[in-house]
Amino acid sequence: MAADLHRLAVSAMAKAHAPYSRFPVGAAVLTSDGRTYSGCNVENASYPEGWCAETTAIGHMVMDGGGRIAEVAVAAQRKALVTPCGGCRQRLAEFGSPDTLVHLCDERGIVETLRLGDLLPRAFAKEDIG
Ligand code: THU
Repeated sequence: MAADLHRLAVSAMAKAHAPYSRFPVGAAVLTSDGRTYSGCNVENASYPEGWCAETTAIGHMVMDGGGRIAEVAVAAQRKALVTPCGGCRQRLAEFGSPDTLVHLCDERGIVETLRLGDLLPRAFAKEDIG
């Protein structure tokens, strides 16, 4: 299953719209009930308006009914082992848990697997809103 996530992330990376950074990224999420969704980064001529690959994948999941994220894979064309940015860690935490697995990939496969709780300790969550 994790190998499928790598393949999906790399396929999504090929669709990246990244003419400004020239840093294509792909991501794929696996839900706790076995569904997969992928996404690429989508940049904009107004630079701050672009968004990350993880965010696109989460949007696909939400549009298909939502779910809980058990695993996520991230691949970047120009750099092995890209970790999700701070904003995406928070977005992943919204739908995941501290035990969500974050697979860092190169073009050949998963190289390193981390826990979301280690990437975003003490995440702000809905329990904090009260
Ligand atoms: N990017 C992602 O899509 N995901 C990450 O985890 C890190 C950064 C994108 C955002 C931007 O389009 C490009 O990489 C360079 O920052």
